[in-house]
Amino acid sequence: MEKLEQIYEGKAKKVYATSDANLCIVSYKDDATAFNGLKKGTIAGKGVVNNRMSNMLMQLLEKHGVPTHFVQELSERDTLVRKVRIVPLEVIVRNVSAGSFAKRYGVEEGIVFDEPTIEFSYKCDELNDPLLNTYHALALKLVTKEEVRTIENYALKINEVLKEYFLSLGVRLIDFKLEFGRLPDGTIVLADEISPDTCRFWDAKTGEKLDKDRFRRDLGGVEDAYREIFRRVTSGR
Ligand code: TMP
Repeated sequence: MEKLEQIYEGKAKKVYATSDANLCIVSYKDDATAFNGLKKGTIAGKGVVNNRMSNMLMQLLEKHGVPTHFVQELSERDTLVRKVRIVPLEVIVRNVSAGSFAKRYGVEEGIVFDEPTIEFSYKCDELNDPLLNTYHALALKLVTKEEVRTIENYALKINEVLKEYFLSLGVRLIDFKLEFGRLPDGTIVLADEISPDTCRFWDAKTGEKLDKDRFRRDLGGVEDAYREIFRRVTSGR
């Protein structure tokens, strides 16, 4: 399957049409942004890590009954995926306080929750992806009630599978962001990516950050962190 015209370019990926109207090719870039594009940079090799890692995790999730857009890895940076209409919600699952949660509620990072939390943001760059609740999402007709139920169930299932998987690699899954899409028949599937760009990973022993927070917070060692989490995922330890 070959890339035809580019149909979309996001902050970290490009999407191309293919000869099959139901499939597209996603191509992962090394470009990195933070704070809705205010901070810009490059993380060498990130596209390869995020493509490969996301594909491995999607296949793991498929095995556990979560449908995804993944079809086939085509190269280091390119993957064939099912074409979806993206649900304009960022679905964030948290196991431990960090990032905007810690800031918004004035608590320190690292508080372990008894139960995971789910929150939604309205995917809209012009509005800075505002936080919204289920009532708001329904009022704005972004999703149906049934779709919200499906998305929440998948999000919790994904958390269970990934939390256990990363712990086996000596990594704590602190929080992460998911996006879902609709197939032509309306079926909800996991889309976008699961990578160090979209998750917080803390080393279980040292607490070292192995994710994009190193870039967001100018902590240094950004490429090394991506390499290290990728090494663990591919070596299984
Ligand atoms: P937050 O604490 O900044 O709200 O981030 C929660 C999680 O979502 C974290 O793992 C990073 C991820 N995330 C994205 O993938 N994209 C975004 O635009 C933001 C703000 C966060």
